[in-house]
Amino acid sequence: MNSTISPYTDHPPPICSVPPRQSGPTVLRSLQLGPMTIEFPVVQAALSGYSDGPMRIIARRLGAPYTLGEVKIDRFLLDLKDRPQTRHHFRVTDEEHPVGGQLMGSDPNEFGAAARKLVAAGFDVIDINFGCPTKTAVGGCRGGYHLSQPEVALEIVSRTREAVPAHIPVTLKMRRGIDDSPMSRDRFFHILDGAFDRGVAAITVHGRTVEQKYVGPSNWDFLREVKRHAGAKTILGSGDLFTAQACLDMLTCTGVDGVSVARGAIGNPWIFQQVRQLAAGLPCRFPSLTEQRQILEMQYQLCLELGDARRASATMRKFAIKFAQLHPHEIDVRNAFARAQSATEWHTVLATWYAP
Ligand SMILES: Cc1cc2nc3c(=O)[nH]c(=O)nc-3n(C[C@H](O)[C@H](O)[C@H](O)COP(=O)(O)O)c2cc1C
Repeated sequence: MNSTISPYTDHPPPICSVPPRQSGPTVLRSLQLGPMTIEFPVVQAALSGYSDGPMRIIARRLGAPYTLGEVKIDRFLLDLKDRPQTRHHFRVTDEEHPVGGQLMGSDPNEFGAAARKLVAAGFDVIDINFGCPTKTAVGGCRGGYHLSQPEVALEIVSRTREAVPAHIPVTLKMRRGIDDSPMSRDRFFHILDGAFDRGVAAITVHGRTVEQKYVGPSNWDFLREVKRHAGAKTILGSGDLFTAQACLDMLTCTGVDGVSVARGAIGNPWIFQQVRQLAAGLPCRFPSLTEQRQILEMQYQLCLELGDARRASATMRKFAIKFAQLHPHEIDVRNAFARAQSATEWHTVLATWYAP
């Protein structure tokens, strides 16, 4: 696969004043999350509505060294009863380790108990979300809202760090601020420094503001500045990682220790293999239709076994529409998946459009 081929080729480029390196092998270092070593620095982000167990397992099988589950609201986790139909929220399979669980909430007092619940379920890292820009999150004083109140944000960090065993890294996900104001920037660095002082093992920075949501480019120049500021502390970058080449470019242009692939992995889990190929100086390989079909079938099966089985068809319709972007007849295939109402119809689309 040509590294520029991606479902998102029409996306505007990030803000980055450093020219990317020319092709050739790139030496990449492992990633350190406190006591935990992640062998390759390109990980899969937390993705609400997507990064469930099946997606995480597929990413691992295709080369992701570490993945994160969908963000969970602390209160939701604390209120959740142990029932067969809710058990998938806590399910972590052996092949997923190391895997992170992400928390979001408004009240520092609730984070500790919720974090312990994730650790008991088997999550190896607790990640705190200070980035979510949705109306419900910000309106509920959660996620990105905390970037406007550093003292509460740091209280959440302290409570979470105190609540989980020392061998469990606590990490943070932040946007680069609420908006572009100097006050927002000061608060960002106040939280960043304070969080490291309170024992956070790594911070992932998304180079967009909360106000920006997903509109406009991610600011990679800001990521470079953050890494320079943080020195030896672990910083991961996020934003506009739609191709394997973009992952390598972010690493080399900004100096961050790792990168967190988000939308670029939805419908293209091969991106993790592709970064490894590019880093080794090899061309990126494009998955054949047979390989695409195998992975779609595998993910469906995993949804039945590990996810919310009643929703397997609906979940896989959502994913398959994204996978269609790699198909030469993208529009037809996307429409066919969108129309599929049952497992049988979904498998018929596969048989029709992904025949060898
Ligand atoms: C559908 C969707 C769901 C997301 N869910 C989460 C989440 O649960 N936790 C989180 O920290 N970030 C979440 N994000 C943000 C991504 O992890 C990432 O920071 C952002 O998409 C920027 O990267 P990209 O431009 O490469 O997609 C989500 C993004 C999208 C598009």
